Amino acid sequence: MARTHLIAGNWKMHLSPAEGRELVTSIASGLGGTTAEILVCPTALGIADAIAAAAGSKVQVGAQNCHWEVKGAFTGELSAELIQSAGCSHVLLGHSERRQFFHETDETVSQRLKAVLRAGLVPVLCIGETLSERESGQLETVLRQQITGALAGIDAAQLTQLVVAYEPVWAIGTGVVASTEQAQEAHAFVRSVLAGVLGDLANDLRILYGGSVKPGNAAELLAQPDIDGALVGGASLKAEDFLGIIAAA
Ligand code: PGA
Repeated sequence: MARTHLIAGNWKMHLSPAEGRELVTSIASGLGGTTAEILVCPTALGIADAIAAAAGSKVQVGAQNCHWEVKGAFTGELSAELIQSAGCSHVLLGHSERRQFFHETDETVSQRLKAVLRAGLVPVLCIGETLSERESGQLETVLRQQITGALAGIDAAQLTQLVVAYEPVWAIGTGVVASTEQAQEAHAFVRSVLAGVLGDLANDLRILYGGSVKPGNAAELLAQPDIDGALVGGASLKAEDFLGIIAAA
């Protein structure tokens, strides 16, 4: 089955609700006849405005994280159900910045993943190695652990919409993009690990590449057989750049 490209923007802690609204309006009006699926992930405060601006367009809106409980005394957190009720379709999980700065572990990523599935949302599971892990030959061990750790105890039947984003930590926000060969090789490995856990379903799941994706490098990356889209940080904050990446898909 052909996999539809997904081009996703991770706005991180950028853009006011008004700026986000303007950006979504520009993206929506510049999409042309793209066949790719389009997603933007604003800050929690920007979600409502982004959804309003996206109405009637192909642009979908997701959250950058969620808590695993449905509700309760968890100051500052958002449940998957709240995110769903706000109109989001997707949730990013286990982004390396969450792992690095907010003590996210494979276990908590897995709990969040279960919550996203419970709420009927699409999980975008982020994985990736640091430079020292790659240089010390641990690339495959790290990716395998992040995947199996996150998917532990979840049936393949629940994961038919799963999206995985491979983002080498050393390529995020650095301007250093993985080479096409490095990216394709890692994606093929990720798919093989997914096949070990989920069987044939692995052939239908999208694996996005993330890390310094720009209009100038997107086409070559997206032409690789196992690269099914992009998770874009910096270049998703400007309509022209994000649309350039969409045009390459
Ligand atoms: P970048 O970020 O495109 O700015 O490298 C990607 C990401 O963190 O998802």
